[in-house]
Amino acid sequence: AQLYVSLKMENARIIGDLVPHVYGSEPIIGSWEPARALAMERELASMWELSFVVPPDHETLDFKFLLKPKDAETPCIIEEGPTRLLTGGMLEGDVRLANFRLNGDDELLEFRVFNKADIVSPLDLAASWRVYKENFQPSKVRGIPDISINEAPTHATEDGSGSSLELDLEHYVVPTPTAPPTEYAANLAATPASLDQPETPWTNDMLLSDGIQSPRSAAADFKDDSYHNKAMPEAAGAVAAAAVADRLHGSKEDRKLAIVLVGLPARGKTFTAVKLTRYLRWLGHETKHFNVGKYRRLKHGANQSADFFRPDNQEGIEARNEVAALAMEDMIDWMHGGGQVGIFDATNSTRKRRYMLMKMAEGNCKIIFLETICNDRNIIERNVRLKIQQSPDYADQPDYEAGLQDFLERLTNYEKVYEPVQEGSYIKMIDMVKGEGGQLQVNNISGYLPGRIVFFLVNSHLAPRPILLTRHGESLHNVRGRVGGDTVLSEDGELYSKKLANFIEKRLKNEKTATIWTSTLQRTILTATPIVGFPKIQWRALDEINSGVCDGMTYEEIKKIMPEEYESRKKDKLRYRYPRGESYLDVIQRLEPVIIELERQRAPVVVISHQAVLRALYSYFADRPLREVPDMEMPLHTIIEIQMGVTGVEEKRYKLMD
Ligand code: F6P
Repeated sequence: AQLYVSLKMENARIIGDLVPHVYGSEPIIGSWEPARALAMERELASMWELSFVVPPDHETLDFKFLLKPKDAETPCIIEEGPTRLLTGGMLEGDVRLANFRLNGDDELLEFRVFNKADIVSPLDLAASWRVYKENFQPSKVRGIPDISINEAPTHATEDGSGSSLELDLEHYVVPTPTAPPTEYAANLAATPASLDQPETPWTNDMLLSDGIQSPRSAAADFKDDSYHNKAMPEAAGAVAAAAVADRLHGSKEDRKLAIVLVGLPARGKTFTAVKLTRYLRWLGHETKHFNVGKYRRLKHGANQSADFFRPDNQEGIEARNEVAALAMEDMIDWMHGGGQVGIFDATNSTRKRRYMLMKMAEGNCKIIFLETICNDRNIIERNVRLKIQQSPDYADQPDYEAGLQDFLERLTNYEKVYEPVQEGSYIKMIDMVKGEGGQLQVNNISGYLPGRIVFFLVNSHLAPRPILLTRHGESLHNVRGRVGGDTVLSEDGELYSKKLANFIEKRLKNEKTATIWTSTLQRTILTATPIVGFPKIQWRALDEINSGVCDGMTYEEIKKIMPEEYESRKKDKLRYRYPRGESYLDVIQRLEPVIIELERQRAPVVVISHQAVLRALYSYFADRPLREVPDMEMPLHTIIEIQMGVTGVEEKRYKLMD
């Protein structure tokens, strides 16, 4: 984070062409030469302001106010009194008036002075062109600006395919090695286990208040406490620490979490369930999505009409409760087998239904209701459209209008009996799909994992935008087969940087607010250099896996000099931590803020990073298991475009060079 400091002078009026300026210690305030003083800008009729950005621990800055014409050195009237000191973004001591003597000391002008300092992230700064262009004075990380922008006009490059805008992007498309599923989101949920078994006796008594005791979820069966049998979770750092603490301190019930979705149809419940499942899995939590619709379709067929959902159709209600209970039983069984977070996806729109679920959860898991509320007609209409086009419920309905009529009737049936959540622990997401405005209400939520879930939900939305992932251009270490280091680009690497700039110019030509993210290592910064017109942000979190004592060695050298290390890494590349370096799990953990920020962004982002880091990031978007991360294909000179949107994540790859 940086400090956004604003110095203000009140009631200052323009005398002749004299305007307030600031001059002082280099480099932030500029110079002690009045000629190079920084002009304050008129913020309001009688308020002048100068703002700039400094690191929170900046050196003390000393400066003075002066009055002078904007583009001339004289006349120049410097304020009376000692220099002013600014530390930690704030003026030191009692802030005195700025006194200026005019007309040979006859006239004294006194203006009130004050200042304000706000912590802002580099991303917030970059997000605002106005702030960036007008106020940004770069701070330095290891001699390189945290954010930099190259506003030079684009020139056709000699060898980077000059007629840039003629570039045919499709020409570079290559297939994805592991094609992500394009299935209907709900179908990706857990396969109903109970429906493969002999019929489970189910009676309406299960809804009675003395509790649900299905044969397979009875508390007495809770012998298999797999926590004791299972090795550490596939997670690192805070996640593993929290898991261990939960194990030691939490009650058995608290260690398992059921996120129970609540909401009318077409409110984005399944999209939310899919996203949350992906995120928690990526963090290393055993997470599974249970979709009750999938159970209903298996047990009662896919093409039930709106009548099935009528609130006065007793048979329909019982059938729906039955499949919900079966899915819940499966989820609890799965938790007994080691599962940690179950995402229970159904409308669960009546208090009675939720009561049934709470009873079933007693002694087994903690429940948090996650209610999605949407009041935006356009979004509901879009969701309804997607439902008719994609849901297996309407796969056999060739007539779109007939499907639509039926679904709207189904919706009305639900609306008649819908009771918003007011009981237990809950999170309500109200109009948050677009990522602007909206509200998130939280009741009775505590603990590490629920906290992370809330944080994730606050930041995620479904506004469509692309994320482009690429490794840096080939570096000198890549040519020599050495790991780590901080070398510059090879000739091929430089060529790629030009081709990439060209590609981005074309791909993002209508995207004024895109940002380019790099690591703090030279090879990514150099790869980004030819890209113009977009703010560039350096993240230390995007630096390559730290190979510790092996940094700069070839794999052959590691094998020869440290054979045990080499073998250990080969055996478990995900968990293996280089001596004084990092493991893949460490990398995943440090990337969490990057993922949250990528979820939060509404504009396109280009991430230029490194092999191990991109494997970890990519596995999040592609929903690949953690164990696959260390061996994923992540070729040089290739761009992976991830399209984030309503129906999930789509991927396209462009190979610009061999
Ligand atoms: O070889 C390039 C590189 O980015 C190294 O700097 C890094 O150590 C390595 O890839 C990560 O890949 P792996 O985990 O397969 O060694």
